Amino acid sequence: MTKTVQYDPKRLQDLFEAAAILRNGGCVAFPTETVFGLGVDATNVVAVQRAFEAKGRPSDNPLIVHLHSPNQMKLYCHSVPEIAHRFIEHFCPGPLTIVLPRRDSIVNLVTAGLDTVAIRFPKHEVAQALLREANLPIAAPSANLSGRPSATTWQAVVDDLGGRIDGVLCGEPCDIGIESTVIDVTREHPTVLRCGGVTLEQLREVAPNVMMHDSQIDSSVNSPGLRHRHYQPAARVVLIDSSPELRRILNAFDHHVRLAYIGIDRLPNSIESKFERFRYCDNEADYASCLFSFFRECDHLGIETILCQGVDATGIGRALMDRIGRASGD
Ligand code: TXA
Ligand code: MG
Repeated sequence: MTKTVQYDPKRLQDLFEAAAILRNGGCVAFPTETVFGLGVDATNVVAVQRAFEAKGRPSDNPLIVHLHSPNQMKLYCHSVPEIAHRFIEHFCPGPLTIVLPRRDSIVNLVTAGLDTVAIRFPKHEVAQALLREANLPIAAPSANLSGRPSATTWQAVVDDLGGRIDGVLCGEPCDIGIESTVIDVTREHPTVLRCGGVTLEQLREVAPNVMMHDSQIDSSVNSPGLRHRHYQPAARVVLIDSSPELRRILNAFDHHVRLAYIGIDRLPNSIESKFERFRYCDNEADYASCLFSFFRECDHLGIETILCQGVDATGIGRALMDRIGRASGD
């Protein structure tokens, strides 16, 4: 059992200590604008191994390498195509991860043996300060137990990984609440492997030929993470499309099932009382930012079934529907 130290990111001394742990091969979780990451030195195989072990993550699922400046890319990427520079100019720092040809300076375990490496420049100032101070490429998977919803608060990191990692830089809940968009620029057309904080529409404004990866058609594709179970709370997650469907589902449930609801539309008054917890979101962005923390809150309460309202799969709604779909085991 490791003691997980809670660092205050507002104290410079705490930031220095967290960076020193990373330089010495330790694991420190830190906030980003998307979700918390579990940082380790991407050039240290023992450190990377520890991150996989702490999460219980399958070793065929590669990690994202976090950098503070595009100038660092030449150390870790074999080449950086023009289109990658355009995406960086428009969206970085921010919630975009770019898959590029790799160099050997990043250990094989980080990239799960692929000949590419995923690079991201987080915007969050605590993440940036830590990356600058550590002055290393930091591999950081989301700081949750593998298969569980990502952690959007430091308390959620401690719930999942307390005693398994060296420290966590505390700080405010993450703004965006779902992970970065992953785009592969090593193919003929830039291809979105995971939708997230930067929308497909935004990417297409920069490059109209951006494609969306379709796992049904192309199962060989190099995003191994898509094969695994993801984002699942202990409660059953059920996606509902419309009010009539909501009533039909409710009628099918036993009275004693402990229910929760999250969505943009309010529940009809007549049925609200059947729900032990409900969260009405202002819009899709608000829905995305609180989805994972709502899942975790429901688990703490012992909720058995969470009904999630479906939204249009456009803009941030596309990433939201992806996460709800996976959480429901689709
Ligand atoms: O917002 C985020 O991206 C967060 C924060 C901490 O940066 N990180 C995150 O990491 O979500 P993780 O490990 O939970 O998800 C990384 C995703 C996985 O789907 C993985 O398969 C994909 O990135 N990935 C990593 N390297 C890749 C590569 N070389 N080629 C294709 N996909 C890759
Ligand atoms: Mg993850």
